[in-house]
Amino acid sequence: MKLFDVYPLYDVEPVSAHDSIVIDKDGIEYLDLYGGHAVISVGHGHPHYIKRLKEQIEKIGFYSNAVHNSLQSELANKLGELSGYKEYQLFLCNSGAEANENALKLASFYTRKSRVVSFYNGFHGRTSAAVAATDNEKINAPLNQQQKVTFLPLNNLEKVNTELKKGDVCAVIIEPIQGVGGLDEGTTEFFKGLEELCKENNVVLILDEVQAGFGRTGKFFGHQHHGITPDIISIAKGMGNGFPIGGIMIAPHIKPSYGMLGTTFGGNHLACTAASSVLEILEFENLIDNARLTGDYFVSQALHLPGVKKVKGRGLMLGLEFDFEVGDLRKKLIYDEHIFTGGAMNKKLLRILPPLTIGKSEIDQFIKALQDVLIPEKI
Ligand SMILES: Cc1ncc(COP(=O)(O)O)c(C=O)c1O
Repeated sequence: MKLFDVYPLYDVEPVSAHDSIVIDKDGIEYLDLYGGHAVISVGHGHPHYIKRLKEQIEKIGFYSNAVHNSLQSELANKLGELSGYKEYQLFLCNSGAEANENALKLASFYTRKSRVVSFYNGFHGRTSAAVAATDNEKINAPLNQQQKVTFLPLNNLEKVNTELKKGDVCAVIIEPIQGVGGLDEGTTEFFKGLEELCKENNVVLILDEVQAGFGRTGKFFGHQHHGITPDIISIAKGMGNGFPIGGIMIAPHIKPSYGMLGTTFGGNHLACTAASSVLEILEFENLIDNARLTGDYFVSQALHLPGVKKVKGRGLMLGLEFDFEVGDLRKKLIYDEHIFTGGAMNKKLLRILPPLTIGKSEIDQFIKALQDVLIPEKI
């Protein structure tokens, strides 16, 4: 059987990895400034992560959600403590799209309404309601287009107010910093206004922290830079450092009932162990502070690069906006300089999403490589 050919591939096959280094089948080492799309948070093959997962699989890897699994409540407690959301409730699933799907569904159950407000250039995943709330026609099939979603520009509270006042909106869903779109973000005034308008109109505010969460922006959650408190927070990616896990954190005023949400694999023993060990490493190694400090260093160095128009993002969720499209630059970085970086919907933006363990020396290596590639090309 052939694979269903939906991914344009770079000609590289990683076969092993440690920390921020990925090694291909020919033994070539690459610096990983992409983290497999913001997934690798605590570094590839972290010894504590491996030890915890090995010990767990030797005991039990999976059982269904019909029986007790105290690893789930241990994870919920640790997550509540580190993120500052002790009073919230955790529902576990397997991916970012699934997290947002459950968040939107829960908002609709809670408010008994069904229209969603979302933002231009946002990305929330590829399942039914999550993809409908994603501003990309190409990935929305006619089936998905049946959902009622209104897209608005960031930073326009008047337009949000007009839509919410119509009375049929169940949720506003927004990323704290747009990932796939290209690192644009709302202002603090906008986020605070959004929070207020949602409260006034009985609308659930969903913060999609799938990419920005788990310390990537230099705080546990990206929205914490703006001092707001969402009703639901969706999480995935860095949560499992590569082990598939997602979830939603739900404010106490939204009450559960049996059967409201459910999943076969969500919250299984291995997934909970992976996520708990990620939290332990984030804490022991102060990786959230490291993300902030290393990110600040990156910005100070990148501002002076030739052709860079703007440095966007926070912590280690960063973007370099050039005055040209970066497709060829990414290829040169991979094939000539052996550095993985990411792209975005904004074709002029190079995305940097490394493990949160990197330091100044990796940034220096990247800046030097970029200078080597850019200077002959641009000047
Ligand atoms: C902000 C955001 N939400 C949701 C998703 C979807 O996550 P997944 O691919 O795990 O379904 C992504 C993936 O890139 C994302 O960046």
